[in-house]
Amino acid sequence: MIITVTGAAGQIGYALLFRIASGAMLGPEVPVSLRLLELPQALEAAEGVAMELDDCAFPLLRDIEITDDAAAAFDGANVALLVGSRPRAAGMERADLLSANGAIFAPQGRAINDNAADDVRVLVVGNPANTNALIASAHAPDVPAERFTAMTRLDHNRALAQLSGATGAPVSAISRLTIWGNHSSTQYPDLSHARIEGEPFEIDRGWVEQDFIPTVATRGAAIIAARGSSSAASAASAAVDHVHDWVLGTPVDDWTSAGVVSTGEYGVPAGLVSSFPVTSTGGRWTIVEGLEIDEFSRARIDASTAELAEERAAVEALGLLAPA
Ligand code: NAI
Repeated sequence: MIITVTGAAGQIGYALLFRIASGAMLGPEVPVSLRLLELPQALEAAEGVAMELDDCAFPLLRDIEITDDAAAAFDGANVALLVGSRPRAAGMERADLLSANGAIFAPQGRAINDNAADDVRVLVVGNPANTNALIASAHAPDVPAERFTAMTRLDHNRALAQLSGATGAPVSAISRLTIWGNHSSTQYPDLSHARIEGEPFEIDRGWVEQDFIPTVATRGAAIIAARGSSSAASAASAAVDHVHDWVLGTPVDDWTSAGVVSTGEYGVPAGLVSSFPVTSTGGRWTIVEGLEIDEFSRARIDASTAELAEERAAVEALGLLAPA
């Protein structure tokens, strides 16, 4: 399989590439060819990462190519991990941030459209991930929109860890937890359908509303405050999990969370890339349907969806959704 990683010389890239090459993402049987896309000024650093990848002598790693040319990087790609993006700088307005990212994700969407393999699956990690996925997809008219996804698996994993810590149940015993909406502080980590050891459980509402939800939703900022830089190893691990489950399937009786294009499920306007509860039987995400949504959940989902709709309106106004 050909795996393209953008922003390969960055923090997440450094934690991600070694996991992919070790077989953690696609399993121990699948050889991988890595294509690293970087900005010209980071190509030398990417060469250094490639040297270290060589030095690991991973049996599954076939070859590595490094380039600053998107067409070459996505040539034949089966999986594209779009990590490199333009982070928000101090004092940057939202329109400037969206516009700077449009300049990255529109051409990358076009390059995927024109060069990637027919079965390409795209995971956008770079923020604002949901809207960047929307932009890339808009510029890839020949690739089904469902193949462009945004990463909320880190939020999902954070929620699992918080619930595990609070209840003492091991992460492996927890299922059916959901992240809804945007990968931002408006996201809604939802425990209302969660199970422990396959059973519904009682949980203190005060803890859910005042502790669990804000802790999960603002965990990224807490990591920055503690570590001095943003989550990298956990983000890489979540990207590995997302692609692993997408390609190889989710466990029976469980689901995960991923930003996928809405076709109107749960009142989320069609076309938005929003986080939903999803399953995969291998290769295709399916939104879990028919879950009961109580009033509290409805308000939270609507609030995050409204933010996504605003982001879409903003990039539309900037002309970023119109294929060139
Ligand atoms: P970083 O700044 O360490 O690395 C980013 C790399 O991307 C740099 O090497 C840069 O040269 C490269 N890059 C920038 N524009 C590029 C382009 N057009 N083509 C190719 N490469 C390009 O950042 P880090 O920590 O690796 O994070 C990457 C992104 O992931 C950020 O946007 C961050 O906000 C996001 N993120 C998303 C998470 C999620 O849960 N969805 C979690 C954590 C981070």
